[in-house]
Amino acid sequence: MNIRQIQEARELYGIDDWGAGYFGINDEGHVVSHPTGEEHLSVSLPEVIAKLKHQGIHTPLILRFPQIIECQLERMHSAFRQAIGEFNFKGKHVGVFPFKVNQRREFIDAVVSCGQRLDYGLEVGSKTEFVAALSYPLTANSLLICNGFKDREFIDMAFLGAAMGKRVIVVVEGPDELATFIELAKDQPVVPQVGLRVRLYSKGAGKWEKSSGDSSKFGLTTTEVLNCLSMLEEANFKDRLAMLHFHIGSQITEIKRFKNAIKEASRVYAKVVKMGYSPQFLNIGGGVGVDYDGSKTSFLSSANYTMQEFANDAVYVLGDVCANEGVPYPTIVTESGRVIAAYHSVVVTDIREVQGEELLPIEADLPEYTQGEVHKSIKELKYILDNINRKNYVEFYHDAIEYQEELFTLFNLGYLNMQDRAYAEDLFRRVCRRALYFSSFQRHQLEEFEDLQKALVSKYLANFSMFQSIPDSWAIDQLFPVMPLSRHDEKPSHKATIVDITCDSDGCLDTFVDRADVKTALDLHVPNNQPYYIGFFLVGAYQESLANEHNLFGAIHEAEIYINADGDWELTKVTKGDPIDELLESRNYDLKEMVGCYELQFDRAITGGILSAEQAKLGLERLTKFMRSYPYLIDR
Ligand SMILES: Cc1ncc(COP(=O)(O)O)c(C=O)c1O
Repeated sequence: MNIRQIQEARELYGIDDWGAGYFGINDEGHVVSHPTGEEHLSVSLPEVIAKLKHQGIHTPLILRFPQIIECQLERMHSAFRQAIGEFNFKGKHVGVFPFKVNQRREFIDAVVSCGQRLDYGLEVGSKTEFVAALSYPLTANSLLICNGFKDREFIDMAFLGAAMGKRVIVVVEGPDELATFIELAKDQPVVPQVGLRVRLYSKGAGKWEKSSGDSSKFGLTTTEVLNCLSMLEEANFKDRLAMLHFHIGSQITEIKRFKNAIKEASRVYAKVVKMGYSPQFLNIGGGVGVDYDGSKTSFLSSANYTMQEFANDAVYVLGDVCANEGVPYPTIVTESGRVIAAYHSVVVTDIREVQGEELLPIEADLPEYTQGEVHKSIKELKYILDNINRKNYVEFYHDAIEYQEELFTLFNLGYLNMQDRAYAEDLFRRVCRRALYFSSFQRHQLEEFEDLQKALVSKYLANFSMFQSIPDSWAIDQLFPVMPLSRHDEKPSHKATIVDITCDSDGCLDTFVDRADVKTALDLHVPNNQPYYIGFFLVGAYQESLANEHNLFGAIHEAEIYINADGDWELTKVTKGDPIDELLESRNYDLKEMVGCYELQFDRAITGGILSAEQAKLGLERLTKFMRSYPYLIDR
């Protein structure tokens, strides 16, 4: 046990900062989860991986901790409960979970069952999500909010939902939707309630700033709000208006943006009430940020406030406006998704291969050149390597670049052979590494050596697809905490980037979270002959819904883990990832037809005398079995 090193690892990876009490490193140097947020109840992730491996479930896989979802729902609810008590707010709070943040059945099942106690509801943004949401046993007080652009069919389904006993609120995105709603309502036994999505001037902050402000694609302008109110009045539906809604974007990094938006929305609410309407709900949307890098700042991957501060500000600002305007206090509805879902899952994969310079010790012997007379420029490179030092390294490095370019031209003109080329490459890389070594003594590194450092880090080949498992890191440069799951009692000796197994150069992770900055390389251990597992944390929000099947790598295996009050944990559900045949079917391949084509080719191989009938039969069996297997690299 190397307690000092383990403490260093905690600081190096920032796990205590971004882990929100759900993740840590134990005294054996293993990453653990505390699914209930209680430090004394922990699940060792390497132990879970070992158990799954024993059952034939290999990495890559997702570990899901539904108890973390429950804790996050509870944290949100109790933050509001506390704020409501503290500021003597005369309304309530209810939450709804936005389906789009993670539509996996396992996930929504957990939200609904954990959320029953809190009357947690659901928010949907499409017909498909709505159809799924209608099947859930929500409590009588839970809301089912229909956002998004709606056609006649969607609105019609909302009427059905209301007739089925669900507390449906149709949030109108445009006056046409309301016109359709009013028209359909004429023939319906039960009419759902209506909400109006208001377009605020106040903007969010961060990557999703465009979701808000007066040029946003969402929400009704003030004129449209007034038109909608008149339409409701004319249709005798004034009493159907139950909610005013806004959402200023996801991952709001600065609390003041929330405050401004809530202030503006509270005034809109008060004015609408004063016009004789009685919306019971003010829906303040989602957007609560996740502190992915643990810096607690307004950086894009962080948030400069806590959930409690968010609740305090919402309750205080709204209460203040209601008191000031003399209107009833509404129930505050939150639609937070990211902050509820992000923590509950971890993607785990294994490192397959290490490529790169760093694994070579700086003084490693240069192989002998065995091809007779060495070219003059290669001799010059060798001279540079032998004589580069702390005083001349910049000049010698520049000279080496010139010789390297010259040698490249000579090779292209046919003057050098493959052995010359290999020897020159080896010399040049050694010069680069020595130059970097000398530059590391400088207080201010030159930019070209910073670039060289980036180019020379090791590449750890991870058995997963970034496009499937962490698509936001490819699409919008979202940062997620990444770290090895074990060996934290050992100092990591390498700086590395992570590359995935897709045939795409974009499948590369070269920015990593850091409290003070962004790291361009991750500290990793040199793999020994044991599997080396790394985890991608806080990936429970949006990643599964945005996942794509680039290279036909599909959904990965998943396992659900529960811990009891005695600290015993169990795997409660294991779901296998997408096999090759299902992925092919999803792209319209007809498996029967394909097998028919294989048979034909094996028959030809028999006729051509390439295979015996027995060999062809076995070949076909192997191929059809292979079609049902996992597309990722199978664990060694
Ligand atoms: C209308 C609406 N509500 C709620 C959310 C959830 O936001 P978040 O996941 O940032 O809490 C979104 C997502 O952007 C949204 O569009």
